[in-house]
Amino acid sequence: MYISVIGTGYVGLVTGTCFAEFGVDVTCIDKDPGKIEDLRKGIIPIYEPGLEELVKKNIKDGRLHFTTEIGEGVRQSLVVFISVGTPPRGDGSADLQFVEEVAKSIAENMDSYKVIVNKSTVPVGTGARISEIISRSRPDLEFDVASNPEFLREGSAIEDSMRPDRIVIGVESEQAKAILRDLYRPLYLIETPFVFTNIPTAELIKYASNAFLATKVSFINEMANICERINGDVHVVAKGMGLDGRIGSKFLHAGPGYGGSCFPKDTNALVNIAQELGEPTRIVEAVIKVNENQKLKAFEKVKSAAGGSLQGKTVALLGLAFKPNTDDFRDAPAEVVVKGIIREGGAVRAYDPAAMEQARQALGEKGIVYCKDAYEAVEGADLMAVITEWNQFRLLNLERCRSLLKDPVLVDLRNVYEPATARKLGFEYSCVGRN
Ligand SMILES: NC(=O)c1ccc[n+]([C@@H]2O[C@H](COP(=O)([O-])OP(=O)(O)OC[C@H]3O[C@@H](n4cnc5c(N)ncnc54)[C@H](O)[C@@H]3O)[C@@H](O)[C@H]2O)c1
Repeated sequence: MYISVIGTGYVGLVTGTCFAEFGVDVTCIDKDPGKIEDLRKGIIPIYEPGLEELVKKNIKDGRLHFTTEIGEGVRQSLVVFISVGTPPRGDGSADLQFVEEVAKSIAENMDSYKVIVNKSTVPVGTGARISEIISRSRPDLEFDVASNPEFLREGSAIEDSMRPDRIVIGVESEQAKAILRDLYRPLYLIETPFVFTNIPTAELIKYASNAFLATKVSFINEMANICERINGDVHVVAKGMGLDGRIGSKFLHAGPGYGGSCFPKDTNALVNIAQELGEPTRIVEAVIKVNENQKLKAFEKVKSAAGGSLQGKTVALLGLAFKPNTDDFRDAPAEVVVKGIIREGGAVRAYDPAAMEQARQALGEKGIVYCKDAYEAVEGADLMAVITEWNQFRLLNLERCRSLLKDPVLVDLRNVYEPATARKLGFEYSCVGRN
């Protein structure tokens, strides 16, 4: 089978590469010529463990192609995936301009029956909108639209695509359903659960899933804040809750709030969709507020560890990406912390194993020194804070850090160290939801 994937970002590149690995002939299309040029040479524009090897292997095997020419890819494909960005607009709703632009280009370039599958995270009703755009432009051609939301996590995207928890497909024609079932046969063979439903339901499943996970994060963050007042331990609270099979232990890690390209944008979009439908999602509205507050609390913790004023203080920040194993800095809690420190007259020495360039683009240079490793960041700083729980920070030589710092002050916003151990090493130590 020939397929094409339009939009070669985190989702499109991983999706296209994994289908190629399953033996499908895939053309990845992007409007960014620089990205396509690099990809043809096997240069990967994002940090995603395992992706580079897989892209190179499938280019070499002749199953993975890259182009900026949408027509070329669309004409030879039976299935066309849309995986372009759906960034937030000012009011929190999803901006569909890229999806609609692509739907128009697909229509202009179609020459036979196609299944157009939307993988971008989109508001309910977008599948119908894509159908309308295509049928208006090409009343002469048969086609089907399907919704196939993506659940991969940055940092483990390959594993999530090759062995997903489930595949959700919203499809309303038997022909398209059979084609997609055939395309996903390798996952059928490993007994991946499939949920076939109508298009609006599939579209909602994506938002509902992300909003629910965000709810777990905000929930445990509120419990952490209570723990700080009662001499409780949020780790133990999370363990005690998570052992209940109805709750589960995942996404119960207290910290500086969720970030990234999905949770903030998708929770806001869901609130917007629900308001427009006259069925407000009060829980999700609260989740968003709790998260914004948690990011501010993270900053306040750093300020308080600095003695209540950041004026003239230098803070070493370890980790900038919104989570480990990614270079994604979008809506990262680190952004709020860095901006707060600089606003209040402090300076930052920062290090992240993957997100330095992204952070530099978002934050600029003023007040920030970008360092080559954790120890360089810590050297001469007044205090240090861990914002992203990269594995390399878990095994940091804390004694060396203490000797490089001006004052032995450690703010552990991800609870990666044992409080007793850090204090025994002489640190003035604070964390989240534990004393
Ligand atoms: N990043 C994630 O972890 C993740 C996970 C699940 C779902 N999603 C959803 O998937 C969608 C894509 O997300 P992403 O993170 O891959 O985005 P991204 O910004 O990394 O990539 C989008 C790509 O689309 C390209 N593009 C935009 N308009 C185009 C056009 N007209 N023709 C061709 N290419 C075009 C851009 O150049 C860019 O390379 C979003 O809706 C997102 O919410 C993302």
